[in-house]
Amino acid sequence: MGVLPTGEKKVFLSKLEEISRKALERPEEFWDEHARVLEWFKQWDKVLDDKDKPSYRWFVGGKINASYNALDRHVKTWRKNKVALIWEGEDGSVKKYTFRDLYVEVNRVAQLLKNFGVGKGDRIALYLPMIPELPIFMLAAARIGAIHTVVFSGFSSDALAKRINDAKAKLLITADGGFRRGKIIPLKEIADKALESTFSVENVIVVKRTGSNVNMVEGRDFWFHELIDGIPRNTYVEPEKLDANHPLFILYTSGTTGTPKGVYHSTGGYLVWVYWTLKWAFDPKDDDIWWCTADIGWITGHSYIVYGPLLHGLTSLMYEGAPDYPAPDRWWSIVEKHGVTILYTAPTAIRMFMRYGRKWVEMHDLSSLRLLGTVGEPINPEAWNWYFEVVGKKRCPIIDTWWQTETGGFMIAPAAGIALPPLKPGSATFPLPGVDADVVDEEGRPVEPNTRGYLVIKKPWPGMLLGVWGDQKRYIDTYWSRYPGWYYPGDYAMKDEEGYFWILGRADEVLKVAAHRIGTMEIESALVSHPAVAEAAVVGKPDPVKGEVPLAFVVLREGYEPSRELEEELIETVAENIGPIAKPAGIVFVGKLPKTRSGKIMRRVLKAIVRGEPVGDISTIEDRAALEEIMGVFKS
Ligand code: WTA
Repeated sequence: MGVLPTGEKKVFLSKLEEISRKALERPEEFWDEHARVLEWFKQWDKVLDDKDKPSYRWFVGGKINASYNALDRHVKTWRKNKVALIWEGEDGSVKKYTFRDLYVEVNRVAQLLKNFGVGKGDRIALYLPMIPELPIFMLAAARIGAIHTVVFSGFSSDALAKRINDAKAKLLITADGGFRRGKIIPLKEIADKALESTFSVENVIVVKRTGSNVNMVEGRDFWFHELIDGIPRNTYVEPEKLDANHPLFILYTSGTTGTPKGVYHSTGGYLVWVYWTLKWAFDPKDDDIWWCTADIGWITGHSYIVYGPLLHGLTSLMYEGAPDYPAPDRWWSIVEKHGVTILYTAPTAIRMFMRYGRKWVEMHDLSSLRLLGTVGEPINPEAWNWYFEVVGKKRCPIIDTWWQTETGGFMIAPAAGIALPPLKPGSATFPLPGVDADVVDEEGRPVEPNTRGYLVIKKPWPGMLLGVWGDQKRYIDTYWSRYPGWYYPGDYAMKDEEGYFWILGRADEVLKVAAHRIGTMEIESALVSHPAVAEAAVVGKPDPVKGEVPLAFVVLREGYEPSRELEEELIETVAENIGPIAKPAGIVFVGKLPKTRSGKIMRRVLKAIVRGEPVGDISTIEDRAALEEIMGVFKS
């Protein structure tokens, strides 16, 4: 791979070490200096308050506003008329918003929210497709101190209801529909169904996107375009001066239990983190056209479509539809048409394009690209090489960023903004400044090079989650109990002899299906909600495009027989409970699940069988026959 456009390791490490040393040894001084890139209404009294650890609090006493930093700060400068957002619809229509345009719309929407009685600390739920109104509503909420919780528009009504209820959202913003592969997803209809089992939502604002016929409940539901028409363009809403630790948003994510966790982030620490991580990893410039292909319903979209790029005053692209619609060259036509310079995406998308073949990429002039990025799951070297050669023409370094919903922003990534290290396909390279990462064994001892262990983060960082909404015990149990005093992300990792980090996948019951985070327990509880199902166990099965897909083992209740129809019905039940992204790739009907003598399902063993790996120690198994039955299925 001698052709990699990479830096020299010695130069890189000395520069990174210089910054990292200060960040880790004197964090208060380091962050005191670095947090000043943003505009604060009042400076903090204390950089890091650790008296109630692990509920660390950053920039305590500081006052800040996200919408002000994303918009007002630029509107005061030459960037006022710079394009902030290029939006491309699935139908090919394009809308551009300057910083000034976004500022005007956000102020109007902030007023609209106030008219609905939304104020500081209130939660509002956003169930919207990838349309400009989504970031506009987020920023408007942030402006008045309301806490947004965005629900991915691929989630079902049950999933939406769960999130609304947990956050006790008072207002729901949705659309008459969203486009996906030319078809209309009936978001309002799904939302209406969710609202049958929620109690907190007082009003619904509906954005017109598809022109579909929808049912509007008198007195509860309002059309966005009718409301906004009545709010003048010169409306100014004073940005709330919020505490640094006022929650900016709640974002639900899957863990090892049946109910998703409401991860919530601060305003000050989160913004500082998102700003610096984007700067260190990609070093974006004013003439860049930044395109993060994620959906805003996930953390990647929050941090690197909305907040990060806007804080930097970048031009950021947002695309509404499916990557291969109407043809597999859609993304490459977008890169060419808008002159995208940095493309940030997930390995699953790359593997999908690999399947279509390079001709779709080669149809377009991609010479504008200068950097590529990846996130969401480990990237296999084949996909890395294809991305590097076919998309980047061996000119563009690949910035592989490891991070999580909980971390707010990148944690381990090549710091091209400091000095580019030599890259190794499949390695996210080194921790960014301020990230004290290591790989340890069960007891917390550092493992030898090239040995698999658990990733840990040994010190707090500004972008860290504030907690789990309404359940601080769960925050401590999930992240800080496995290794007391350290943050446990739940990933396997390895360091090689040169200190490069390799992230090897989840060490818990969480799946990454096409880079989407889905809990096996969530799928299991959906399955057992069906009257035919006595017990279910879900494991990840390797998939060449999606990385892994859920496979369900199901024990039926008395009186039910396995059938193709029942399989379909169970798969549909999962789609209804969670969303189509969680659908099992198949259902394996079994008489019994392998369990330990204490009655725990041995998922580890199921996973090994599905992957064709050795099952390991099964001395604790209660009934070998259960295992043999399943092994029989997979042998044939
Ligand atoms: C996985 C997405 C390998 C990892 C930003 C993590 C990765 C989980 C990478 C978080 C990467 C993310 N290489 N694995 N570059 N990035 N992951 O919360 O398992 O949706 O714990 O956040 O994705 O998923 P989440």
